[in-house]
Amino acid sequence: MSFRYTHQADYSRFPGNDIALIMKRIEEFNTLQDIDTILDKILDEARHLTKADAGSIFIVEDGGLRFGYVHNDTLFKKDAANEEIYVDFSVPIDHHSIVGYVAATGDTVVIDDAYRLPEGSPFTFNSEYDQKSGYKTRSILAVPLHTFHGRLVGVMQLINAKDDSGGMAPFSKKALDIIPLLANNAAVAIDRGIMNREMILRMVKMAELRDPTETGAHVQRVGAYSAEIYHQWAIRQGIDKQERSRKKDIIRLAAMLHDVGKVGIPDQILKKPDKLSDHEFNIMKWHTVYGGRLFINQASALDRMSMQIALNHHEKWGGGGYPGYIEDLMQSDVMAGNSKVRDQVPLGARIVSLADVFDALTSRRSYKDPWTDERALSIIESEAGRQFDPDVVEAFFQILPVIRAIRSKYRE
Ligand SMILES: [Fe+2]
Ligand SMILES: [Fe+2]
Repeated sequence: MSFRYTHQADYSRFPGNDIALIMKRIEEFNTLQDIDTILDKILDEARHLTKADAGSIFIVEDGGLRFGYVHNDTLFKKDAANEEIYVDFSVPIDHHSIVGYVAATGDTVVIDDAYRLPEGSPFTFNSEYDQKSGYKTRSILAVPLHTFHGRLVGVMQLINAKDDSGGMAPFSKKALDIIPLLANNAAVAIDRGIMNREMILRMVKMAELRDPTETGAHVQRVGAYSAEIYHQWAIRQGIDKQERSRKKDIIRLAAMLHDVGKVGIPDQILKKPDKLSDHEFNIMKWHTVYGGRLFINQASALDRMSMQIALNHHEKWGGGGYPGYIEDLMQSDVMAGNSKVRDQVPLGARIVSLADVFDALTSRRSYKDPWTDERALSIIESEAGRQFDPDVVEAFFQILPVIRAIRSKYRE
């Protein structure tokens, strides 16, 4: 049994039709923008093509491999929000672990039984996860994710291939032939997803220079909370899977930009340690309008979502939020009308307002210690139907373990 495999795709084994179908599915990677949704989609397709029960992707970061995403049909309820994807750990790029070996050598590794590695294998199988979770790893297909220029972006590990009747089987020859094609395209999509996330963080950084409470960690948390709350909300509403993943993709990035409008607020107000006067607070409220203006062209779905969130994330479900109805956002003397209520506030903004408030309550600020979960959750519960959309609150409470996993992944 060999554990190496060429990473050249062999298309001759596939009827033209098959290739076209596969290409069409792989091309959908290009419609997604956020790294997490991209990883989710790649694992979906790779597992579908290779009939694998589970899989994970590691991303090259700071000279090591950082855990990026995981699927497991046996352990996690399909489609449900899942805290395992926010686990945070890295593996060195060396010959000791399977993924490390794949990254170090650029070889694809094929294993029929993880507990009976071929004689002379340089790496060992780490059974810690199996022991903890009760999962039984058998076959493994670990592939390097190289861009078309040969740059290594990450490693994908597929686990427990099944035969047509759902029984355990080694990875098929067909799976081994097609996976390199997917790997190249996946690498390019991952690269783009990382760049998008970094671009957003750079924009946030500009706002952070002005307002020290809007940190990178805060916006990563608000982005992830919002994406997962949306996911759960959408499942409860019976929104179909494609629409769900399309929206989840843009909500995360748009949520990260909720306060970029603060770049337009003067320093003496943004950095004032004491309570703002009424006049100062009125100026502060303008960050919603400035934020909305940044995305006024609405050239893409992401722009539209970003505009809705930046403009409306301080509106309240029961009314009384700001800025309220605005006729023309670009007029120099914007006049704000009545505040919006209920679903006049766009869904993305209803979600982000909860995520942002929860994060502010449970984070340290110059003027307060972080609140305990208990205290923060009881406030949120009591504001359901007042400040917050009750359906959004409900979805939030259903995914608390995921919310906590996100908080420990993106620490200050
Ligand atoms: Fe804000
Ligand atoms: Fe915020």
